[in-house]
Amino acid sequence: MEVLPWVRVLIMAACLFPASVECMVRHYKFDVVLKNSTKLCSSKPIVTVSGRFPGPTIYAREDDTVLVKVVNHVKYNLSIHWHGIRQLRTGWADGPAYITQCPIQPGQQYIYNFTLTGQRGTLWWHAHILWLRATVHGAIVILPKRGVPYPFPTPHEEMVIVLGEWWKSDVEAVINEALKSGLAPNVSDAHTINGQPGPVSTCSSQGGSTLPVEAGKTYLLRIINAALNEELFFKIAGHQVTVVEDTGMITPENHPIHLHGFNFFEVGRGLGNFNPKRDSKNFNLVDPVERNTVGVPSGGWTAIRFRADNPGVWFMHCHLEVHTTWGLKTAFVVDNGKGPNESVLPPPNDLPKC
Ligand SMILES: *[C@@H]1O[C@H](CO)[C@@H](O)[C@H](O)[C@H]1NC(C)=O
Ligand SMILES: *[C@@H]1O[C@H](CO)[C@@H](O)[C@H](O)[C@H]1NC(C)=O
Ligand SMILES: *[C@@H]1O[C@H](CO)[C@@H](O)[C@H](O)[C@H]1NC(C)=O
Ligand SMILES: *[C@@H]1O[C@H](CO)[C@@H](O)[C@H](O)[C@H]1NC(C)=O
Ligand SMILES: *[C@@H]1O[C@H](CO)[C@@H](O)[C@H](O)[C@H]1NC(C)=O
Repeated sequence: MEVLPWVRVLIMAACLFPASVECMVRHYKFDVVLKNSTKLCSSKPIVTVSGRFPGPTIYAREDDTVLVKVVNHVKYNLSIHWHGIRQLRTGWADGPAYITQCPIQPGQQYIYNFTLTGQRGTLWWHAHILWLRATVHGAIVILPKRGVPYPFPTPHEEMVIVLGEWWKSDVEAVINEALKSGLAPNVSDAHTINGQPGPVSTCSSQGGSTLPVEAGKTYLLRIINAALNEELFFKIAGHQVTVVEDTGMITPENHPIHLHGFNFFEVGRGLGNFNPKRDSKNFNLVDPVERNTVGVPSGGWTAIRFRADNPGVWFMHCHLEVHTTWGLKTAFVVDNGKGPNESVLPPPNDLPKC
């Protein structure tokens, strides 16, 4: 009897103007399960979506509605964040645990339901509770509307590259140990590219990650830094790379501050304390870059500007997980505006309870 409600959902969620607007409802099911994994000559069970690390890529087009049914089969409480998705009036689907939802408890499920309004490019999803995002993450690819080309020459092929970190120990044990001792958590044992740490001569089963390419062709790489506690750098030896989109700014020794629910403009940055008199005069209000994550210099400041046009509770935090754990986090409460189309939608019936 599982099929019936989904058929109804399909009909209900069909576009309001099917003749003039070509939008779709994309259905995904995320079964969150444990999976034994062997890397760096050692094995451990990891929390995954459908046994995959990195998890499955979500593909959709601008203006599509995405429904992701998340079923929690593991012993941990769980929630998933759709990093960079604006969640217009749908804060219930944003995902940070204890900010916009209670976690999905073991044995329970929740349907994340959101629309990709006016967004294109590469975003990603990840668990937003404990340190589960170390292995519970994957890409979101938002293609332009059907018939709309990319704002750059069409590449020969597209590839998703997810950079991550790998601990031989259980990641929850790593953070719990650090919280008990008050010291910094153990650094990861390896970096990964699409789940692979690269060949280790002493282990038999280890391969690297390979992307076959043809000489002279152009490839579009969708690169995601899914590492927990590190900013990573990416280059390809002997090749020219053109950046066509960048949603997060990465520079050394920074705090990558991420804001949920909005893209914002970075209008200024500096070292030392922010001085409103002196520094605001130099704000770039002409052509600032638009982002969802920005580097704040160590011992310095960054000024951001956004229009508070999305009602809800929006988490803002350092994306280095250890800093979030230590408390580098806050939230914006944006009140409803005028009328129902500027108000948060009512909470869905299946919103998890505490
Ligand atoms: C992982 O391996 C252990 C030991 O071999 C086994 O007991 C366990 O059932 C396996 N777990 C999964 C999820 O396959
Ligand atoms: C998704 O949300 C829309 C409102 O935005 C609602 O009409 C629809 O029923 C929801 N679908 C599911 C499966 O919850
Ligand atoms: C952290 O590293 C120390 C020193 O290498 C080691 O003794 C400890 O077992 C590690 N902790 C975890 C949870 O892996
Ligand atoms: C909400 O409705 C008002 C009045 O109909 C309209 O001017 C405004 O653009 C709408 N806002 C959104 C976010 O759709
Ligand atoms: C899971 O979440 C519920 C609701 O917040 C809470 O009561 C429970 O203690 C949590 N379980 C664990 C293992 O943290």
